[in-house]
Amino acid sequence: MDRPTPTDVEHEVTSVDMIVSKSDAEGNITYTNPIFMKISGYSAGELLDKPHSILRHPDMPKVIFKYLWDNLKAGKDVIAYVKNLCKDGGYYWILATVKVSTNPDGSFRNYMSTRKCITANAKEAIIALYAKLLEIEKSDGVEASEKALMDFLAENGQSTETFNDFMLQLNK
Ligand SMILES: Cc1cc2nc3c(=O)[nH]c(=O)nc-3n(C[C@H](O)[C@H](O)[C@H](O)COP(=O)(O)O)c2cc1C
Repeated sequence: MDRPTPTDVEHEVTSVDMIVSKSDAEGNITYTNPIFMKISGYSAGELLDKPHSILRHPDMPKVIFKYLWDNLKAGKDVIAYVKNLCKDGGYYWILATVKVSTNPDGSFRNYMSTRKCITANAKEAIIALYAKLLEIEKSDGVEASEKALMDFLAENGQSTETFNDFMLQLNK
């Protein structure tokens, strides 16, 4: 499937929308709820068994996904802002909570992401942060943008330990 060409058209996520998907250990989509399909513009057939990166927007810094996967692989849940690309090239912003689910015997079951709308305050702060991270990544690579992300947390009196709470707090 050709990747859509990004446009400036924002798709609205309302306060009652809860966009849900599940994935296998590699991030391939194993479940989506109807609102996921409605907002992204993809059908179930186009999404199931496809990697979540089908939604990857070029404005997203790589370091956010590195942070996501480093934590998921360590068994830790992650709360992060994501700009997603729709089938028609439009986009939507969400605050995603990605959790690791385990079977009763403790083995890996799946990853589940629940996504909700973001506030104007959060959007303003995150657009500025991600633009900076992306720029650093383009000129100096992901290691440099990882350092810039850690610096941003430190400047706000935060750390990777408080990352999730800080992201939630920004959405107030
Ligand atoms: C449960 C789950 C949900 C995810 N949801 C998204 C998403 O909504 N948008 C997105 O771009 N990546 C999402 N990802 C991350 C992707 O797997 C991938 O790391 C990211 O799109 C970057 O892709 P790339 O490394 O091919 O550039 C999700 C991963 C998991 C495990």
